[in-house]
Amino acid sequence: MPPDANVVFLTGAGISAESGLRTFRDNDGLWEEHSIEDVATPEAFLRDPELVYRFYNLRRAQLQSNVVNPNKAHYALAEFERCHKGKVLIITQNVDDLHERAGSQNILHMHGELLRARCCHSQRTFSMTGSFDGAARCICCTPQQSIRPDIVWFGEMPFYMEEIEQAVVEADFFISIGTSGNVYPAAGLVQLANHNQAHTVELNLLPSEMNNAFKEAHYGMASLIVTQYLTQNVEE
Ligand code: APR
Repeated sequence: MPPDANVVFLTGAGISAESGLRTFRDNDGLWEEHSIEDVATPEAFLRDPELVYRFYNLRRAQLQSNVVNPNKAHYALAEFERCHKGKVLIITQNVDDLHERAGSQNILHMHGELLRARCCHSQRTFSMTGSFDGAARCICCTPQQSIRPDIVWFGEMPFYMEEIEQAVVEADFFISIGTSGNVYPAAGLVQLANHNQAHTVELNLLPSEMNNAFKEAHYGMASLIVTQYLTQNVEE
């Protein structure tokens, strides 16, 4: 990898699995106990808001427990960003803050953030580390309005899509880590990268749905293969 290469990482739940956060589609994954339709859609929020508040309150509390910390894969990306001379961007589907806690700075959370809440009226977002429910009120409107988790639900448009597409078009390397390639538009980004002559790499436990779209692939635990890949391919 040339030292001035423009590198875009796309991360998914697999990079946080070794930190103790469950993925979505592996067995015993997050969706095993809940159907997506019951906790991660606007219709679910309208139908049973308290179930949705509870689902995210539990995940928010777990993320802040002292047993959930960044793993070697998160730290490897942060170190790479610190040392690399070219542009580095992490596009993450994850709503945890483990990339930030590992020291990465240039991050776009395309599916939102567990540690933020959003006003249902103004759409303004603000930091939220505690639990909240339907009785909670925003601080931006008069009269105050209800708030929701700042998470992109199925059927909603992911955040930062213009910025993300521009970054992928300009990327020299597009490296996907820990995602099953099941959910669009994230899953389609590798095709945009290929179309713009980027070198595309899949680092995952198992071949993803999009594995054939990648020019290079390495399989194993993220904490091992991400560190190995960056160590072996960085000409700093
Ligand atoms: N190291 C590397 N990869 C791993 C590890 C690990 N330790 N453990 C699991 N994986 C891989 C799995 O093989 C799988 O391909 O991580 C991937 C996780 O896939 P999903 O559970 O589907 O998670 P993700 O791809 O991030 O889901 C995308 O779907 O449910 C929505 O909004 C949610 O952001 C999420 C999106």
